Amino acid sequence: SVGLSGRDFLKLTDYSSSELSDLIELGHDLKKKQKSGKVFEPLQGKTLGMIFEKSSTRTRVSFETGMYQLGGMGIFLSTNDLQLGRGEPVADTANVLSGYLDGIMIRTYSQAMVQELAANASIPVINGLTDVYHPCQVLADLQTIEEVKGGLEGVKLAFIGDGNNMANSLMIGAAIMGMHISIAAPEGYQPENAISKKAALIAAASGGKVEITANPVHAAEKADVIYTDVWASMGQESESKVREQAFADFQVNSKLLSLAKKDVTFMHCLPAHRGEEVMADVIDGKHSVVFQQAENRLHAQKALMTALMG
Ligand code: CP
Ligand code: NVA
Repeated sequence: SVGLSGRDFLKLTDYSSSELSDLIELGHDLKKKQKSGKVFEPLQGKTLGMIFEKSSTRTRVSFETGMYQLGGMGIFLSTNDLQLGRGEPVADTANVLSGYLDGIMIRTYSQAMVQELAANASIPVINGLTDVYHPCQVLADLQTIEEVKGGLEGVKLAFIGDGNNMANSLMIGAAIMGMHISIAAPEGYQPENAISKKAALIAAASGGKVEITANPVHAAEKADVIYTDVWASMGQESESKVREQAFADFQVNSKLLSLAKKDVTFMHCLPAHRGEEVMADVIDGKHSVVFQQAENRLHAQKALMTALMG
């Protein structure tokens, strides 16, 4: 075990590089076990509650399947059906669920609400995406980059597009692991200052580098990985038209890809919009690892649940 039993996983700033490395290593190990048909059930008899206030394909299915494969089970809980959605206090919900479950995964809008839930729960709480962070995605992404590039240190990752939850978590994760991350986002859509500053401080200590630019060409130059995400995240649907205009020069297409290293890897957390943030020939082309990346959600989260709930 990697000594993380009982911990929450709310944001990557709570984790050290050696803790993240241990989790990624365990992810590689559990993937191998799974591929060789080996049964590994450290969570027998355990239950994960999965609270969703936003839609999900990958997060829901990978957590639920992952729990089952580890010998436990996942319960899907929609806030539409929970009393939480009718105003039951977050703290009461945390206390009650702590009496039934062995862990909670939550996807919602407010990072503060997730922190409040965790503060009042006596069981591990895992952030399955908020408006601010998506740490589980980045854990799987780091595992994927290790698979493809053979390591993380010194790898240049260019994130092109919205300074959103993905940009924030990638920035922190890359900084912790000593990577070079360059975020290209239009003025007004760049990551929150407090988070970029935090990432820069972490990078200064790890030997990594964090850059924020409004120039996608600069970010893409000599990149090992080019990453993008939707221009309008869940909850921002009404801004779609305005955002399409703001991000018009931030599309990942073959021209942008040609500025990166020859063996550049294209990544996207999915769901994707072909013809908007990425062209079809890029996401469906030979540089893309998006489905490997999506599959790794399963392995990375099995590692996380084994470490936290085991
Ligand atoms: N990437 C990701 O979190 O996908 P879902 O929204 O389908 O869970
Ligand atoms: N930024 C996107 C990520 C989806 C996995 C969103 O929040 O909708």
